[in-house]
Amino acid sequence: MIKPDAVENGHIGAILEKITAAGFRIVALKKTQLTQRDAEAFYSVHSERPFFGELVAFMTRGPIVAAILEKENAVNDFRTLIGATNPAEAAEGTIRKLYATSMGENAVHGSDSDENAAIESAFHFSEREIF
Ligand code: CMP
Repeated sequence: MIKPDAVENGHIGAILEKITAAGFRIVALKKTQLTQRDAEAFYSVHSERPFFGELVAFMTRGPIVAAILEKENAVNDFRTLIGATNPAEAAEGTIRKLYATSMGENAVHGSDSDENAAIESAFHFSEREIF
């Protein structure tokens, strides 16, 4: 996902360009807005964390861009491309270093495993939106 902060700041095009330049194929893509229920479900693994309320409020405050990306070693390579969760710790040239503002408002989300990528893909897209 390209998160609400990066969408508000006009970074959709630049972020998609970095993603395709890094060799990812866009399999599915849409601009949408998460409801409170959507965000709570998507991030349910974090429901006991102190930042959960803040995270849900942030992720629902404006549109996001959801994408399914394909590449060899996609999960690890995408995490390298986006950089550390905290942009202050993200490597030079990473998407979060370039476009994120804080730990909470960190521009992009990437799946942390192939299994979660499949779950998160099904969360955002129906079969006829995937090519
Ligand atoms: P993401 O990769 O989308 O997965 C969980 C999100 O929780 C993470 O990116 C951050 O946006 C958010 N997050 C993680 N730690 C904190 C924190 N300490 N304070 C606020 N938000 C956080």
